[in-house]
Amino acid sequence: MTLPLRGRWNALLQSRFFLDATAATGAENGAARTWRPRPRTFSTPADGDAMLRSVIAGTGSYLPEKVLTNDDLAAIVDTSDEWIRTRTGIRQRHVAAEGENTSDLATQAAEAALQAAGLKAGDVDAVLVATTTPDYTFPATACIVQANLGVPAGAMAFDLQAVCSGFIYGLTVADSLIRAGQVRNVLLIGAETLTRLLDWADRSTCVLFGDGAGAVVLRGEEGQGSNADRGVLHAVARADGRYRELLHTDGGPSATGTVGKLRMQGREVFRHAVARIAEAMEEVMEQAGVSAQDIDLFVPHQANVRILDATARKLGIAPEKVMLTIAEHGNTSAASIPLALDAAVRQGRAGRGDLLLLEAMGGGFTWGAALLRL
Ligand code: UT7
Repeated sequence: MTLPLRGRWNALLQSRFFLDATAATGAENGAARTWRPRPRTFSTPADGDAMLRSVIAGTGSYLPEKVLTNDDLAAIVDTSDEWIRTRTGIRQRHVAAEGENTSDLATQAAEAALQAAGLKAGDVDAVLVATTTPDYTFPATACIVQANLGVPAGAMAFDLQAVCSGFIYGLTVADSLIRAGQVRNVLLIGAETLTRLLDWADRSTCVLFGDGAGAVVLRGEEGQGSNADRGVLHAVARADGRYRELLHTDGGPSATGTVGKLRMQGREVFRHAVARIAEAMEEVMEQAGVSAQDIDLFVPHQANVRILDATARKLGIAPEKVMLTIAEHGNTSAASIPLALDAAVRQGRAGRGDLLLLEAMGGGFTWGAALLRL
């Protein structure tokens, strides 16, 4: 497929991006490398300079039928509805039925997103599934979803693993693919059966997570290179592997030959979360030249209502502009942002032309933020 701006962007990418990338590797004489954001001239052309934008053409979501309340959990582990509500904001979470896999949740969410976009499976060029709980080690869950939906053979399909930041990572990758002219219509799905990684005897983690899936259809459309454009205006994805032990699974195919269980030092993760999230959000707003007052709706990863309150306060975002689904969904990892986004669209809290700010932070550590106009 050849898109109108492809040749022009390829030339720009080759001349600028690769020069920047070479300069940024600079570990000279074995000195420790300190990464700093590079100027992103290639993604911010001057106003009026036409460019491809990745526009959200439709959203969809799916939650498994079974609901587990805080009281249900208090019957199996030493906890209480009061502790869970006041420390996290969670009241209940959904749990996938036996035999219901991540690909099943992802397929349902994707079908709803395609319908909302007015597109058919045959229009999709790429399927990206952000997940930490794939059906199998391989094939990719995205390939199973491709077959389930009837997305044509030859389309791109792969999984992306950045834990709770998976949807933000997926958005940066999908946006890059679209702007490079590689694909036109991308189905980006965040889907998890995270309850399958939980140690139900560990009260510090088993009360936090839930299952679900959310999806968006991203479509390449020509914009004017200004903040008034619809689509992804800026997205950043970051990681710092030095903190990997603070949130991890104690098993994996190569290390143990098992799946493992989720382990977290919650207080430490919490401490890092507010700082990292705020940093990424400030970065995307600064890159796009907008302030917190310009944001119509803040659609964050739903990890803890106290993290979201603190982040919104730090950035000066009014409480009524924060989309909260944590009470009903719990923390659904990579699915939480697209689930919240779909809820916002279907409840009429976000509509065409609105400026949205997304953020996430998770295991790795990974974190990131995205600014987009619906
Ligand atoms: O999505 C990926 C990113 N994840 C996050 O951002 C999660 C970040 N962390 C958090 O959200 C919070 O740290 C938690 C919700 C996980 C924990 O809240 P906290 O206020 O940091 O509690 P804590 O870990 O400091 O524990 C406080 C107390 C402890 O008891 P003692 O030592 O003070 O007697 C825990 O044993 O609460 C106890 N506790 C519980 N009590 C009742 C821990 N879990 C529970 C529980 N029920 N489920």
